[in-house]
Amino acid sequence: MKVLITGGAGFLGRRLAAKLLERGTLKGTDNKDARIDEIVLVDIVQGAPFADKRVRIIVGDIGDPDFLKGTIDANTDSIFHLAAIVSGQAEADFDLGMRINIDASRHLLEICRSLGHRPKVVFASSVAVYGGDLPAVVLDTTTITPQSSYGTQKAVVEHFVNDYTRKGFIDGRVLRLPTISVRPGRPNAAASSFASSIIREPLNGEMAICPVSADTRLWLLSPQTVIESLIFGHDIEAEAFGRNRNVNLPGLSLTIHEMVSALERVAGPRIVERIHWESDPRIERLVLTWPGQLDTAKAHALGFPRDENFELVIRQHVRDELGGRRDFV
Ligand SMILES: NC(=O)c1ccc[n+]([C@@H]2O[C@H](COP(=O)([O-])OP(=O)(O)OC[C@H]3O[C@@H](n4cnc5c(N)ncnc54)[C@H](O)[C@@H]3O)[C@@H](O)[C@H]2O)c1
Repeated sequence: MKVLITGGAGFLGRRLAAKLLERGTLKGTDNKDARIDEIVLVDIVQGAPFADKRVRIIVGDIGDPDFLKGTIDANTDSIFHLAAIVSGQAEADFDLGMRINIDASRHLLEICRSLGHRPKVVFASSVAVYGGDLPAVVLDTTTITPQSSYGTQKAVVEHFVNDYTRKGFIDGRVLRLPTISVRPGRPNAAASSFASSIIREPLNGEMAICPVSADTRLWLLSPQTVIESLIFGHDIEAEAFGRNRNVNLPGLSLTIHEMVSALERVAGPRIVERIHWESDPRIERLVLTWPGQLDTAKAHALGFPRDENFELVIRQHVRDELGGRRDFV
């Protein structure tokens, strides 16, 4: 089978590709394991090459419909649509967010429709589709009322994926991702970037700025579990999803204070002195509209994976990204 990953040079795209190469199979539309023969990674930036013949890297702008058309064909069985303008940037550049998050997604779905082969499409949405006057615990049935351009753009595409599925043009699956932490690498343009920086930078001996107050509650998922979830969401039988193709992924609900306490338990009290508290109203305005706690009954019933606790997530980061280093203590 042939798999396409948009945003293939990004944080999740590269990790997903590596995991798929390791697994070697995905469930086809007939629900049987199919061998992955090719993974096409599409991104506007050139990612580092993979030393595996099954990977093809295509560099270009998915906002260009002709370019996008050249990346998908009737043999493209599965698409993980991860390319996006992330929250902070979509808020700062409204036109770019609309062009990539909405227009390019619509083109992608239209190409699938025109080819007529009904591929599986896994769309990475976000809990940013929720916002406004939310209940203390958001349910699968809570109305989506996004309070950011990013959240609105994700919400629009969620509806498209559901309708293109209903019409039989694709077999769509929408996964609403929590904030990912601990994300390795450098800070990015997501408003939630600090949720990783406040753990990652102190562990690297660097200072980090926390732009929101310690009682801010976040809905978090580890990089490892989100990759497992994308694959799990792809492989679930279409009927199991039912008519509503959206699912809120299970996460951990923690205040910043609880995250910092977990860091302290893993790496000692001196480490948390590397966090500076400096409120940033631009970030607070976005992040405080997102839900900090969800009841993910549908995901549990479907059997989606989950993280056990945040301390283990930090330990996993130390093991995988810092080679188990403990000289930060
Ligand atoms: N990481 C998180 O905390 C999180 C949370 C919720 C949802 N998501 C969603 O998951 C998906 C992947 O997130 P990520 O963390 O890997 O983000 P990322 O920014 O690392 O990756 C996105 C990729 O999309 C690419 N891209 C942007 N514009 C493009 C264009 N015009 N043409 C082609 N490629 C383009 C970027 O170059 C980048 O490599 C996104 O859709 C994001 O909205 C992520």
